[in-house]
Amino acid sequence: MAKLMLNDVLERYNEEICIFLFLKKVVKDVKDGRTNLTVYLTDASGELVGKIWNDFYKPDFERLEEKIVKVKGYIELYRGIPQIKVIDMRIAKQNEYDTDDFSPSVDNVDELMQTIFSYINIVKKPHIKMLLRRFFDNDKFLKAFKRCQGGTTIHHALRGGLALHTATVLIDAVSFIQIYEDAGNRIHEGFDRDMVIAGAILHDIGKVKEYKSFPINKRTIEGLMQGHLSLGYAMVYAAIRDMEREEIQFPKEDENKLLHIILTHHGELDDVIKPTSTGNILKPSCVEAVIISRTDEKDSRVNAFETAINEDNGDGDLTRFNYFMKTYIYKR
Ligand SMILES: [Fe+2]
Ligand SMILES: [Fe+2]
Repeated sequence: MAKLMLNDVLERYNEEICIFLFLKKVVKDVKDGRTNLTVYLTDASGELVGKIWNDFYKPDFERLEEKIVKVKGYIELYRGIPQIKVIDMRIAKQNEYDTDDFSPSVDNVDELMQTIFSYINIVKKPHIKMLLRRFFDNDKFLKAFKRCQGGTTIHHALRGGLALHTATVLIDAVSFIQIYEDAGNRIHEGFDRDMVIAGAILHDIGKVKEYKSFPINKRTIEGLMQGHLSLGYAMVYAAIRDMEREEIQFPKEDENKLLHIILTHHGELDDVIKPTSTGNILKPSCVEAVIISRTDEKDSRVNAFETAINEDNGDGDLTRFNYFMKTYIYKR
């Protein structure tokens, strides 16, 4: 049976409803001997705040964070905004739900993957093509890549977001080379179009380890401690070592360039103490790395603007102050 989605229940005031939701957070508030819980519930259609007042409170509820739960309650309006007054809640059984109901997703992931594969097919250098195939012919990696979000909040924060972002960076970067050459510019002899293709495809693969699997849209401990630039570097480095063990030559200069693209794709050298740190530890030092870092920034920024506009529910021409972009965003 199809899941009853959040959007469908928002106007069913004072009617007892049962719904499966993914629980983002539980906040406990104890006052005058009374315990109240605020729970943040979400599914692919939206978010809803739930309130559990003293009479219905059970200590078990506090252990439900990041679980898919079945909630029973009533929709009420609080200051004009619907919330759910929870009367009971339990962990949903695995046969009662489909995990995909709880995360918004890109709807053309398979097409995006076909695009990525079509670019792998035009790579000329056999060792680079083999490296890309090592990742994308691996079912476990492919499954994780297709499901992975591109970010947790600011841009591409949806299932398949990484595939969408990767395909966009890839098409943009390769098209740029074409446009640049068509306009009559010359690129130096050592410039390597295969490296741009491989760099675009691999630049963010560390995100499959940086983020928990959807619907939990959070960083893993290794993601927090190492970041996807380092994690992606380590994955590609390990794959090249595996190739060497199989006596597949991977020239050192190509390895250096590819790992450099991954490590520098967030652009500028960063002050790691800032809360808005991008995690870059080096500046791009080759043309291929500049192309990837700029196309990466362009796509993440445009998507972040779109996200901010879509999420802003105010009436004005501008969004509320956007701390990531450090400005108000014009919505018209
Ligand atoms: Fe990145
Ligand atoms: Fe990226």
